[in-house]
Amino acid sequence: MKRILLALLTAILCASPMLEAAQPERGRLLYDTVCRHCHFTEIHFRVASKVRSMDDLQRYVWVWSGELGLPWTDEDIADVASYLNRTYYRLPAAEPPKP
Ligand code: HEC
Repeated sequence: MKRILLALLTAILCASPMLEAAQPERGRLLYDTVCRHCHFTEIHFRVASKVRSMDDLQRYVWVWSGELGLPWTDEDIADVASYLNRTYYRLPAAEPPKP
């Protein structure tokens, strides 16, 4: 069921016309749908956060989406990382270069 919802959500969001840059709002929807139920906000604030850079953050998002068996594209991962960075981490060089 969750998978169907996610596929639907992804399809709707992918139909959106602005796909050039990472879209934190889109990332928020994805994160809220499949990640938040397990995380408390605090996990992203903890002192011992393992995230030190945007690369770390993207890697974490990639690992977790793989862990959950989600069919996320590079774009989905960039959007979620961008959302998490904007909302919690505030790391420098937030936007990874887009091809
Ligand atoms: C099954 C529960 C669970 C789900 C679902 C989950 N996470 Fe996590 N997440 C955790 C736990 C527990 C940790 C801390 C463990 C660790 O550091 O490896 C963590 C750590 C993280 C961190 C690093 C936090 C930090 O600052 O050190 C990121 C980023 C993250 N998760 C992103 C995601 C994303 C994105 C998703 C959705 C694709 C997701 N998680 C889904 C349980 C979950």
